[in-house]
Amino acid sequence: MAKILGIETSCDETAASVYDDKKGILSSTIFSQIDHHKYFGGVIPEIASRSQLEKINPIIKEALEQAKVLLDDIDAIAVTNKPGLPGSLLVGVCFAKSIAWAKNKKIIGINHLEAHAFSALLENDIEFPFICLTASGGHTSIYLIKGLGQYELLGQTLDDASGEAFDKVAKMMNCPYPGGPIIEKLAAEVDFKDFFHYPRNKGKKLDFSFSGLKTAVLYDLVKKDAYDMHEKKFLKEKDVRLQQEVASSLLVCITDIFKQKLELACKKHPEIKAIAMAGGVACNKYIKNQLTTFCKKRSLQFFTPSPKYCTDNAAMIAFVGAYKFHKGEFSDMYLDILE
Ligand code: KG4
Ligand code: ZN
Repeated sequence: MAKILGIETSCDETAASVYDDKKGILSSTIFSQIDHHKYFGGVIPEIASRSQLEKINPIIKEALEQAKVLLDDIDAIAVTNKPGLPGSLLVGVCFAKSIAWAKNKKIIGINHLEAHAFSALLENDIEFPFICLTASGGHTSIYLIKGLGQYELLGQTLDDASGEAFDKVAKMMNCPYPGGPIIEKLAAEVDFKDFFHYPRNKGKKLDFSFSGLKTAVLYDLVKKDAYDMHEKKFLKEKDVRLQQEVASSLLVCITDIFKQKLELACKKHPEIKAIAMAGGVACNKYIKNQLTTFCKKRSLQFFTPSPKYCTDNAAMIAFVGAYKFHKGEFSDMYLDILE
């Protein structure tokens, strides 16, 4: 039996969680800085790390209190040490090392992407091997998950992440960060129709590319006299219909790209019984519905974590910490960020 304290500070969320490998998630607390970054259209690293410093102590305290455990009851501290914003990661790693030092606890450095890839297992039993699509603001990847901690990267984005495409197109239309939820809301208002048929980068490889899509939307807006390239300004703020049509076409396009890549991954790995999707973009109900149908047609099961475990959270960090604890995969006081 093991109780793991998970700490996540890789970007603009400060999160902590206590995970018990017998009882599951005992607590999961989070402070989101979205309000700090909203009007900049993206995360400002200096603001992010400053906020991490302010919140880390209260958020960890709250996680321990909610779980009704003391630091002394914890067997190990799992902390995200890569990838992410250096200033934000440093806060979590330094704090984790300080607690580990003071309380003589084991420390385990966690790869944030591995944690997303395994997050569907937090609430579900999924038969191995399965395919996991992780789609977030910073990453879009397809993994073959073979067992706890055993995974193979099948493909990833060569440029922008899919969540970033939502964020950047929303910004082009003067909508606040994060763009994904707003794009979903606007698209629902016009029934998820594909008005502009943006390009799908069809290829036989499992890698993604979303930067061309973002540029295609931009040029289309310019062509429609809706965007001024020099002023970097959206010119049709009152034209809600145009915003809805762009949002809907973008969402349908990105969903098609996901389906096309998952189709290729299934052909490559006919042994799989299930597909999972994780990361912030997996909160999207349209994408979830489409992938549920996609899986049903192929007699595959489909899993996503609950929305609070799709976006950045520390429960997934503690979960990976728990299986690494049992495998004896520990870090030491030399644990650094991004290594
Ligand atoms: O996993 P996450 O919280 O942070 C990263 O590790 O990046 O994901 C944030 C991303 C943002 O790009 C946001 O726009 C996107 O997830 N997102 C969504 C939705 N909710 C969040 N994208 C599409 N539809 C949503 N409903
Ligand atoms: Zn993430």
